[in-house]
Amino acid sequence: MPAPQLDFGYPWWLSYSHLILTAATVPLLLLGYARKWSKWPMLLVGIVALWSTAAFLVVRFVIDVNGRPSLPTQSFLQLGTGRVLDMGAGTGRSSIMVLQARPQATLVALDLFGDSFEKHFGRSESPQQRLFTNLKAAGVEQRAMIKAGDMRSLPFEPAAFDAIVSSYAIDHLNRDGIKQSLAEAARVLKPGGDFLLMVIAKEPWVQFTFGPLLLHSGTRGPAWWTQRLQEAGFQVLEQGTRPVTLYLLARRG
Ligand SMILES: C[S@@+](CC[C@H](N)C(=O)[O-])C[C@H]1O[C@@H](n2cnc3c(N)ncnc32)[C@H](O)[C@@H]1O
Repeated sequence: MPAPQLDFGYPWWLSYSHLILTAATVPLLLLGYARKWSKWPMLLVGIVALWSTAAFLVVRFVIDVNGRPSLPTQSFLQLGTGRVLDMGAGTGRSSIMVLQARPQATLVALDLFGDSFEKHFGRSESPQQRLFTNLKAAGVEQRAMIKAGDMRSLPFEPAAFDAIVSSYAIDHLNRDGIKQSLAEAARVLKPGGDFLLMVIAKEPWVQFTFGPLLLHSGTRGPAWWTQRLQEAGFQVLEQGTRPVTLYLLARRG
């Protein structure tokens, strides 16, 4: 049987929609050149062709939403070992990021596997199976366990985890949901444990390619997230941006 392939399953249009504009504008440019259009329409079409091509390259090779991400900070779970929770694991991108960067760690990949999963990754018979297939394709399935559950009311005992990661998941909730999830993260994390929170950010790459289209959490910036984390009992140690991403590394007090 062939080895399973990683397929995070983010929709095609995230990676390729800009190419539709390129495909429409380049022939238009050639037509305009052949028919000697005036300067302004040529300039307009040229700018759109240039932007859509550049945006496609950025989305495909810089943002690379279906590729394997690397940990945004090496300070997360520096000991390298322990039990990690991924809140909103989806098809496994963030779980695999942690398990590959920390080969001594184990991880519980938690997701509601409901409407939000379907909205992001499409309908499938068994979302858990899709997640498992990816964990297996990455060779980390033996250190991972899949759990269905709601991050606003986690099905775990207090202080059950050494570290928590959550990537592009908590920012999909409403304000109350965010508050509940962060309080739950603080409850199930051991004192002194790390929490790596990654949310979609209003940063230059995302603004260049998608404008406001991907901003689930509106204009909430680092100060807003820091405040929410502090209210939940975390101390923010580090923050920064990566393409599409604002990350905050927090420690449970
Ligand atoms: C955009 S995906 C992110 C998946 C993954 N963390 C990644 O980085 O690719 C958001 C995930 O959060 C999950 N989710 C949304 N609300 C949730 C909740 N209340 N409890 C658990 N998971 C939830 C969705 O099912 C979805 O799989």
